[in-house]
Amino acid sequence: MNGGTIIRLNKVLDNRGNLSVIEENKDVPFSIKRAYWIYDVPGGEDRGGHAYLMNKEFIVALSGSFDVLLDNGKEKEIFHLNRSYYGLLVENGIWRKMSNFSTNSLAFIVSSENYDPSDYIRDYETFLIKTGHAYGR
Ligand code: TYD
Repeated sequence: MNGGTIIRLNKVLDNRGNLSVIEENKDVPFSIKRAYWIYDVPGGEDRGGHAYLMNKEFIVALSGSFDVLLDNGKEKEIFHLNRSYYGLLVENGIWRKMSNFSTNSLAFIVSSENYDPSDYIRDYETFLIKTGHAYGR
């Protein structure tokens, strides 16, 4: 699907435990301005359900698993994240919803922009209009 790409991160194997890393403009194709994480999600709750005008992000399941539904206004795809060395690159202008969080799951997200409430599109119809797909359904 255009707008969502799984990226495999380097995994440095070691008897003492594994290590993975995200470097800006190398492992992810943007400069990292922000990192945040989502945890202690009660069973059955969803997160997200919005798009960003400018912000790109890279989502990793550092622990446990969850699904990320991406929707570019035309196609939808569900990505199941459950490895700490794989991440999902989400372009700007993509609707995304996170669901099916397992117990003790930890979603780690690095973003290309600082937090800005005016960068959010929270209404799905507005999203379809902005992506030019409102009338083609
Ligand atoms: P929101 O992005 O709406 O969460 P989700 O999309 O996962 O449902 O953010 C939830 C709250 O957290 C909202 O009040 C804004 C705040 N927040 C920040 O202050 N900084 C941030 O970087 C993010 C992502 C959220």
